Amino acid sequence: MERLGGPGLEAPPRGAGAGVDTPPETGAYGGVQRALALRGADGTSRPFVKWAGGKRQLLPELLRYVPAQFSTYFEPFVGGGALFFQLRPRRAVLTDVNARLIRTYLGVKNHVDEVIGLLSSYPHTEAFFYELRDWEIDSRSDAEVAAWFIYLNKTGFNGLYRVNRKNRFNVPFGRYDKPAICDDTTLRACSLALAETEPRVEDFETAVQAAMPGDLVYFDPPYVPVSATSSFTSYTQQGFGPEAQVRLRDVALALKRRGVHVLLSNSSAESVRALYGADFEVIEVSAIRLVNSKSTKRGAVTEFVIR
Ligand SMILES: C[S@@+](CC[C@H](N)C(=O)[O-])C[C@H]1O[C@@H](n2cnc3c(N)ncnc32)[C@H](O)[C@@H]1O
Repeated sequence: MERLGGPGLEAPPRGAGAGVDTPPETGAYGGVQRALALRGADGTSRPFVKWAGGKRQLLPELLRYVPAQFSTYFEPFVGGGALFFQLRPRRAVLTDVNARLIRTYLGVKNHVDEVIGLLSSYPHTEAFFYELRDWEIDSRSDAEVAAWFIYLNKTGFNGLYRVNRKNRFNVPFGRYDKPAICDDTTLRACSLALAETEPRVEDFETAVQAAMPGDLVYFDPPYVPVSATSSFTSYTQQGFGPEAQVRLRDVALALKRRGVHVLLSNSSAESVRALYGADFEVIEVSAIRLVNSKSTKRGAVTEFVIR
């Protein structure tokens, strides 16, 4: 299953409330839906990167199952952080194994003016794209990493993040007419939303060890492929195979048993139902996704929301 957060998917859901029928039995969340709808109306509560498997298309469905109240919010596979930026919880633990992504979060959080300054000075040319792509980026500052990451994300092919064995970014130039390389309104809004967070590089299992009863953990792992022919976006050099999926289920179940609110998304592969069916509610939802890089292949895709 190809889950690309490509540019064809830019239409924002315009806030959590937009298009959301008040769910009957899950109405717990309805109390804050209005506030979220208002927050989204300014167009600022959106991720600052496009991310493969980004959750913006699924937000209306996901928001139905977010509890009305929770203490600390955990997002251990943060990626673009679509649900985090929609909810903007006061206390949040945001983690991912992608170190450059996390340094980008730190750059946006702590040095947003510098990131904006750098991004606005970077020209949109193929030559500059390849020059920047080759920088030894890991030895530079968080602000420089953030500008590097965001520029390549906005101008590279389909907004993909892919590296070779030497951890060198190898996505080609994207050929967009006018990509929004420096969206300073969104960057500033994201910087504010991140103010109280400490984004860090961590595997999902250790990232949630400190979760307490009443906290909310939202797991959005790399999806189980729906078929053998699905092209799978692995995000990391290590990948996320069947063993990791079982480990995730075990971690989620342990959290649930100790009173932590758990919300999970995954593909609608039968093996996912088999993993979660006995101990969790598995809800089939449909999301509009770009299932193929050709816009003609855009369509509704069935996914699972699990709690
Ligand atoms: C489906 S994406 C998350 C998308 C995100 N919810 C969004 O809205 O953009 C999965 C993320 O998991 C991260 N990841 C992969 N393996 C991981 C692991 N073992 N622990 C933590 N994060 C991991 C990847 O780097 C990737 O950013």
